[in-house]
Amino acid sequence: MTDVLAPTLLALDLDTLAGQTGRIVVLVDGTAPSGAGARRVDRLTRGAVTRLMASEAWGKVKPGESTELAWPAGLAAEAVQVVRLPKKTDAATARKAGGAIAQARGMGPVLVLAEAAPRLSDLLLGLVLRAYDFDLYKTGEKTARGPVSLMVGDLAAAEAALAQVKALAEGIFFTRDLVNEPANVLTTMEFAERLTGLRDLGVDVEVLDEEELERLGMRLLLGVGVGSECPSKVVVMRWNGGTAGEAPFALVGKGVCFDTGGISIKPAAGMEEMTMDMGGAGVVAGVMKTLALRHARANVVGLVGLVENMPDGRAQRPGDIVKSMKGDTVEVINTDAEGRLVLADVLWYTQERFAPKGIVNLATLTGAIIVALGSEHAGVFSNDDALCAAFLKAAAAEGEGAWRMPMGPAYDAKLKSRLADMMNVGGREGGAITAAQFIKRFIKEGQPWIHLDIAGVTLAKGDTPLAPKGATGWGVMALNRLIADGYEVREG
Ligand code: BES
Ligand code: MN
Ligand code: ZN
Repeated sequence: MTDVLAPTLLALDLDTLAGQTGRIVVLVDGTAPSGAGARRVDRLTRGAVTRLMASEAWGKVKPGESTELAWPAGLAAEAVQVVRLPKKTDAATARKAGGAIAQARGMGPVLVLAEAAPRLSDLLLGLVLRAYDFDLYKTGEKTARGPVSLMVGDLAAAEAALAQVKALAEGIFFTRDLVNEPANVLTTMEFAERLTGLRDLGVDVEVLDEEELERLGMRLLLGVGVGSECPSKVVVMRWNGGTAGEAPFALVGKGVCFDTGGISIKPAAGMEEMTMDMGGAGVVAGVMKTLALRHARANVVGLVGLVENMPDGRAQRPGDIVKSMKGDTVEVINTDAEGRLVLADVLWYTQERFAPKGIVNLATLTGAIIVALGSEHAGVFSNDDALCAAFLKAAAAEGEGAWRMPMGPAYDAKLKSRLADMMNVGGREGGAITAAQFIKRFIKEGQPWIHLDIAGVTLAKGDTPLAPKGATGWGVMALNRLIADGYEVREG
C-alpha cells in the first residue's frame, strides 16, 4: 500500500555536485567536514559548512539531528542539510539521522553524500522507515516527495545492505498499514485476505473458518466474535525456511479488528482507537513477511485469531460460562476482557498442532500496561528466563522498548471463579499481570513462552524519529532479530 521508498545508490562522483538541484545532505562529525563529499561541498560554498560547524547553532544539534544552509552560494541546490553523525555512532543514532533526512525532504530530489557514513545500513533503515506515510484516505492533493539517492563508497556492499533494509521495512510497513486501517475496511475477512497474499512470497497460508473453529472446540474465541456480522477466523501462516521436519518457532497474535468492549461496552471517548486492537496480529503478519522476503533459514509459524467484539442480540453476556479448546471453563465476567479469550484458544491450538520450540504471543491486551509502562516499553511476561533474556537483548539492539514484568501464584489466585474453572478478569490491581496469568493457564508445562502486552507501544501519539504519528510496527525488528540470532540454520 505505502510505497517503500527505495533510494537509488550511486558511486561517488563529486563533479556532479555543483549542478545538483534539490537538496544535498552531508554527514559530519567534529568541528570540520571530513568526508570527500562534505569537503567538496564546503569548498564549493567557500567554507559555508565549516562556518556552520563553528556556529553556536551547531552546538545545539545533537547526534542524529541536523540543520541546514538555505540557497548556498556556489551550488545549484536549494539547501544543504548538515547532519551530525559521529564516526563511532550507535545504531539508534544512525537510524535517527536517516529519519531526519527523510523528514526534511521536499518535492525536489535529495542527494546524500554517504561515501564515508558509519553504519550505512542503519542510516538507510531510518531513511526508509521515516518515509512511511499512510495517506490512503486523503482525497486532496498528496504531498509529492522527490526521489532520494545516496552516493556510497562501496556500491556492492551498500546494495546488499539495502536489500536487507527493504525486507525489514516492507514487513514493518505491512504491520503499520494493517494497524492504521479503519475497522470498516480491515474486517476479519479483509485481514485474512491480505494474509493470503503472503502466499506469493512462499508463505503457506491456511484460513480456518467458523465451522472448523467450532469443530476444534475454540468456543472462547468464537464467543468473542458471536456478536459481530464479521465471521471469526484463525489464520495459520507457515514459513519453512529451516531444516525440514524441525519444530518451528511460533508467533501468535491477538487480532481484534474492533473492540467495542461488547456488552461491557467501552465509553465513547477514544473508542475509535480500538481499530488498533489487532496490533498483535499485525506484528505477526509483518514478521512473517520479513522472514519470507529475506528467505530466513528458520521454520516459523504465525497464527492470528481474527474477531470483532461487538454488542448485539446474540452477543456474549457477562456471566456466560464458556468451555475452551483446552477443556477448562471460563466465567466471562467482563466481555471487554476479550483478547485473552482469543489468545487462550489460539495458543492451545498452536501447541497441540506444532509443539513449537518457543512461543511469543503479542496483544494489545490491557490498559493497565499503559498505566504501568506508558508508551516507552511493552510489557514482557515469560515462564522462561533464557528465552526472555534473548528477547530483551534483541529488543534492546533494535531500540524497541521492552520491560519484564513479574508473575506468580498470588496473581493467578485472583482469577478464581465461584462457578467455573476461572474468571476472565482478576480485578483492577495488577491488571496486566492477572491478564498474563490467565494466558499462562493455556501454556503447557515446559513450553518456553513470552507474552508481550503491546497496548502502549502499538500507536505513537505523535511523530517519532522512525515513524509519523500512528502505527509504529513495534516488535517486528526485535522478533526478526530474535529469530535470526537464535533459530536460524547456521552456514557450514
Ligand atoms: N483492547 C483492550 C486493551 C487496550 C486498552 C488496548 C487501551 C489499547 C489501548 C482490551 O481488550 C481491554 O478492553 N482490556 C480491558 C480489560 C479489563 C476489562 C479487565 C482494560 O484494559 O480495561
Ligand atoms: Mn477489550
Ligand atoms: Zn481488546
